[in-house]
Amino acid sequence: MGRQVILKSRVPKGYRHPELDNSLRVTRTKNEARLIQEARRLGVPTPIIYDIDIIEATLVMQEVNGPRVKDLLDQSGPEQRAMVCEEVGRSVGLLHKGSIAHGDLTTSNMIWSEGRVWFIDFSLGSKKADLEELGVDIHLLHEAFQSAHSHIPDSYDQIINAYRDSFPKAADVLRKVKEIEDRGRYT
Ligand SMILES: Nc1ncnc2c1ncn2[C@@H]1O[C@H](COP(=O)(O)OP(=O)(O)OP(=O)(O)O)[C@@H](O)[C@H]1O
Ligand SMILES: [Mg+2]
Repeated sequence: MGRQVILKSRVPKGYRHPELDNSLRVTRTKNEARLIQEARRLGVPTPIIYDIDIIEATLVMQEVNGPRVKDLLDQSGPEQRAMVCEEVGRSVGLLHKGSIAHGDLTTSNMIWSEGRVWFIDFSLGSKKADLEELGVDIHLLHEAFQSAHSHIPDSYDQIINAYRDSFPKAADVLRKVKEIEDRGRYT
């Protein structure tokens, strides 16, 4: 139909037991399709899913054209960076308010396109996330800003400010993040 699409295919992993491998590929494919659609209903930009093949564990989705937020943050000036971070924080807040944990919340899984941040790669996400899962999401993001983005320390704070604004229970999650990080430090 003349649309630009991405085919995401989960290839069998030879080192896993075949039955387990098959079941993981199928559940992750289904989970990803479901959460991508659910996230869009919450107001978070995600690709449109055009097709899902459970047997082959493949998804056909809209191609989102643009740089990954991971690369964009390094290349842009303070103003654009602030705009991107605000958008990231607001959208993560909307997801969490809707009880969705992304599961792999890094800036590699965000694409900047049409002046918005698009979220992809929800295969490890959860639709009825508990506080711990929400905390792990933010913890992953925090880690990314301490390693890949350590030269722009303000950006994480900008994201968290927008997160607080869009999600009333943000303070509970941030307390949990602290607990997760303390746990990591002392064990
Ligand atoms: N809809 C899309 N539009 C444009 N690029 C995409 C899209 N989906 C994926 N990509 C590109 O492909 C890369 C890998 O995709 P994705 O993050 O979904 O898979 P992955 O990290 O290999 O997956 P998983 O962690 O589920 O095994 C992304 O970082 C992005 O560059
Ligand atoms: Mg990814």
